[in-house]
Amino acid sequence: MKKILDLIAGELKPVFAECGYDQSYAKVNLSNRPDLCEYQCNGAMAAAKKYKKKPIDIANEVVEKASANPVFSEITAVMPGFINIRLNGEWLAGYLNGMCSQDKLGIEEPEKPETIIVDYGGANVAKPLHVGHLRAAIIGESVKRMGKFLGHHVIGDVHLGDWGLQMGLIIEELRDRRPDLPYFDPDFKGEYPQEPPFTISELEEIYPAASAKSKEDTEAGHAFKERAQTATFQLQNGYPPYRAIWKHIMNVSLADLKKNYDSLDVHFDLWKGESDAQPYIPGLINDLIAKGLAYESQGALVVDIAEETDAKELPPCIIRKSDGAALYATSDLATIVEREQDFHPDHYIYVVDKRQELHFTQVFRVAKKAGIVAPERKMDFLGFGTMNGRDGKPYKTREGGVMRLEKLIAEVNDAAYQKIMENRTVSEEEAKETAKIVGLSALKYGDLSNQAAKDYVFDIDRFTSFEGNTGPYILYTIVRIKSILSKNGGLSENAKILPAVTEAERALQLEITKYNEAVNAAFDELAPHKICQYVYDLSNACNRFYHDTKIITEENEQQKESWLALVRLAKDVLETCINLLGIQAPDRM
Ligand code: ARG
Repeated sequence: MKKILDLIAGELKPVFAECGYDQSYAKVNLSNRPDLCEYQCNGAMAAAKKYKKKPIDIANEVVEKASANPVFSEITAVMPGFINIRLNGEWLAGYLNGMCSQDKLGIEEPEKPETIIVDYGGANVAKPLHVGHLRAAIIGESVKRMGKFLGHHVIGDVHLGDWGLQMGLIIEELRDRRPDLPYFDPDFKGEYPQEPPFTISELEEIYPAASAKSKEDTEAGHAFKERAQTATFQLQNGYPPYRAIWKHIMNVSLADLKKNYDSLDVHFDLWKGESDAQPYIPGLINDLIAKGLAYESQGALVVDIAEETDAKELPPCIIRKSDGAALYATSDLATIVEREQDFHPDHYIYVVDKRQELHFTQVFRVAKKAGIVAPERKMDFLGFGTMNGRDGKPYKTREGGVMRLEKLIAEVNDAAYQKIMENRTVSEEEAKETAKIVGLSALKYGDLSNQAAKDYVFDIDRFTSFEGNTGPYILYTIVRIKSILSKNGGLSENAKILPAVTEAERALQLEITKYNEAVNAAFDELAPHKICQYVYDLSNACNRFYHDTKIITEENEQQKESWLALVRLAKDVLETCINLLGIQAPDRM
């Protein structure tokens, strides 16, 4: 099904042509004066310049010819040259019935499905997942779901930080604690143990201890850090005992990471990491040198990326440090080489903290300059802001430490549980389960309803409220409709929606028709907040209609059935949309 605005424009196009004006002027928008009309076309104003006529004359001509069209119940020309439109109720109801009968509620398959890599998550192995990774997971999951839903081939990659200094720190801390382990015996000749030398809780304790040690401004601290750097370097060069420890760190940590992402209902197609890109680095560097792009500067190897149109001067991208070590940018470029080889994507989307913007500008430019990525392919950086506490500073625990994700989720669930128990419509048992769903909706919606690039304040009371622009409010709206429908068990699959008889009903119908545009715009602009805005408006329209209309006691069976079909469609649209946000609705709450 076409988007409703395109369908209406399609009715006006032949009229503009017939009157001797270019069809492109027949563009239709939502009215910004809903008191006057539902839609409007401002094409007469634009055409007036080209055809050297008064806008109102053009508008009048078009309106005269279009007024016989049964799609419009009202079409009028208004000074200085607006064309105001109201839809015919039958036609509008027909559009809605069309949505009910179609796959994906009428969203068509894309003309050319794209292969899209969404790089999100970015957790660092062996370091605990903290709220800083929360936004990447939530926003990235939504972008990935939107792309898939619209019919693209989308590959979500967690792109783990699994190759950095944390590995050397853990290795050296382990050496200090357990010098007897075979990994530290240079003469050891046998097979390394299958059993990891630590559990997840030990690992969680080892890394922060080692990290703190390396930051001590003492001789011991400096020496420890140096050892960790050497160990990292040896690991990266394939030293077998350290590779063996690294494998253990990966196995133990990944199991835990997967559990955490699962609890967020966030799922990746690929569990690759920086380490997977390492084999591509030598070839990448040779290629950059051969193409004359990489050159030596103060011992390092760099590529210029500055462009004349840049507002401020951008530093060159460092590919190799003077000590021979590869950097973050090298690893990201090598990952692109690997992705080109494996998937040849049409589009790359990176969902990462906006403070990494310069890094990605550098990486994208080198990738394009070197022809690793073809010029027409899209590379987007979706940078997000910080989640702050009520004091406006990055969110912390009450004690001032970095908040662990698990703890945060538990707090939100608890707040949701309290709210559900206030309502007291379900058992304690059920409330606990429901609280997980509602809590997750509070957390995700609270995040996604803001423009990604903005910082926002994490406010647990507001996010878990059943009123206002919140996840629980949206779920509550859906649950309410589910309960109306289940009280009227027998609504047939093909119950028909009739033309609206009341204003609130008409408003709900019009709101539903915006679905196709809303979903497409949200994906095109990589803006999940547009879906939030839409589901909020739609929920408001549902609740107004519900409040206004005695559905259950309606005596006219056909009318009642039509209303039930309408709220069922509204519910289907809401559920489809919240699924794109990574949220589900319970059956009761
Ligand atoms: N691990 C990184 C961090 O914690 C984020 C990775 C983002 N993705 C990427 N391709 N660089 O900062």
